Amino acid sequence: MFSEKMNEALNVQANRELYSSYLYLSMSYYFESINMLGFAHWMRLQAGEELVHTMKMLDYVADRGGRARMLAVEAPKFSWASPLQAFQQVWDHERFVTGLIHSLVRVAEEELDEAALDFLQWFVKEQVEEEESSDNVRNRVMAAGIDRAALEAADRELGQRSFKFPRGFEIFPNATSR
Ligand code: FEO
Repeated sequence: MFSEKMNEALNVQANRELYSSYLYLSMSYYFESINMLGFAHWMRLQAGEELVHTMKMLDYVADRGGRARMLAVEAPKFSWASPLQAFQQVWDHERFVTGLIHSLVRVAEEELDEAALDFLQWFVKEQVEEEESSDNVRNRVMAAGIDRAALEAADRELGQRSFKFPRGFEIFPNATSR
């Protein structure tokens, strides 16, 4: 049975995924404003990926016969002291989201909702990847330090990122660059 409590917990998490998308989009425009277009590109794709997470969660609510509800999205900050500060926040944020997903798993356990537990395993695995990839880029930017040439090399490198949107979620079908 799909309980009201499970439905609401998923709606709240979908809102947090949407906030993640909003945060990374904000970082993307911050990087564009300081002319680091590779970093901007990486963040733009990350924002798209978070939008997929949002819809994946809301689709599941609808598939279970629940009600997907849009909640107000908090405004993210729009400026950072340095590229490293922004990438540090990505890593911190992903670790925070991992905790939220694990709390959601606890709700599914309390509600004896085996189907939701099964569904949430996708997000549990995804968070392992999200933490690893955000830690990798943070380390890459940290290694560049404040050396402008090294930062520009990291910017070019991250600008190579590609992401194929899963079938049914082709929001930006050709989102390799602007
Ligand atoms: Fe949807 Fe990056 O967690």
